[in-house]
Amino acid sequence: MVESRLPGASSQVAAALLAWYDRHRRDLPWRAKPGERVDPYRVWLSEIMLQQTTVASVKPYFAKFLALWPDVHALAAAEDQAILAAWAGLGYYARARNLIACARAVSAAGGVFPETEEALRALPGIGVYTAAAIAAIAFNEPAAVVDGNVERLVTRLFAIETPLPAAKTVVRDALLPIVPKARPGDFAQATMDLGSGICTPRSPVCPDCPLLAFCAARRAGNETGYPVKGAKKSKPVRYGTAYVARHADGSLLLATRPAKGLLAGMSEVPNSGWQEGYAPVSSPPLKGDWTRLNRVVVHVFTHFELRLVVETARAGNQPAPAGMRWVAPDALADEPLPTLFRKVIDLAGSA
Ligand code: ADE
Repeated sequence: MVESRLPGASSQVAAALLAWYDRHRRDLPWRAKPGERVDPYRVWLSEIMLQQTTVASVKPYFAKFLALWPDVHALAAAEDQAILAAWAGLGYYARARNLIACARAVSAAGGVFPETEEALRALPGIGVYTAAAIAAIAFNEPAAVVDGNVERLVTRLFAIETPLPAAKTVVRDALLPIVPKARPGDFAQATMDLGSGICTPRSPVCPDCPLLAFCAARRAGNETGYPVKGAKKSKPVRYGTAYVARHADGSLLLATRPAKGLLAGMSEVPNSGWQEGYAPVSSPPLKGDWTRLNRVVVHVFTHFELRLVVETARAGNQPAPAGMRWVAPDALADEPLPTLFRKVIDLAGSA
């Protein structure tokens, strides 16, 4: 039996939050309307896309995926390259490969998603957070769903002093006892909506908050003091060189990244690779009037920051080197080209 930090008040918190949600819930494309049956495929797809990504960025991708692949069998039957190309620009590309693997596993099992957190976690790309979110939203399992917004809301509600990231488990333990048995999916989405719309990082709109009367941080006049953050480590910086070659017909030279590792299987502009400290020694992929641009492309990955020097050249009508290909400008949209390399091409185009 889990004890609540709000003895006697936990059901009041849930009731206040759900009443607020019934009036103020966001109308999002993956959400079932009141009275509508929830579609686990939409819930799963949206939760994978929403990992480390904002609702606004996800919306057009979610619409595109549903139009192309309306159910898990359709997605499972699609070509990898088509899915990666549709994902391009959304970032964190390991998610796309896990999405493909998960769709195929679920499709092979008859197209039915498992309903418990534990069984969901066994699928590719579904971690603790996503399993809890799908279990709660699609299957009404009483799971504690803790993302960044919810962390902020719960550390404020209970004035949790443990710094992040250690606070994660404290938050989960504080939240679990107040998850209502009747509407855990709505409760989870209510915490997300409250966290993103009212209990915001810098200027929370406390007078509009249904949990005002319960909030320990507010009582102490210190709502923005939570969550307490641990010391931030700066990211290491890696350096490299990218080579933008343009054919006489306007095409660009592209390659495909290896099947394993960062941005696996995606398209790339030929480059030196990258390493900490200085760019690896490298030479252009073919002959041309190579010119180094005087601006670099900076791109932030989860574990490091990348700075790419860009060189450009006109390459006449040489054939593409082995393993590379010329791609016409109007075919670039169909390439699974990560944002990093789109930035490289944009910089070269504007130079
Ligand atoms: N972020 C992650 N999952 C979400 C959801 N279901 N609704 C709104 N924001 C979210």
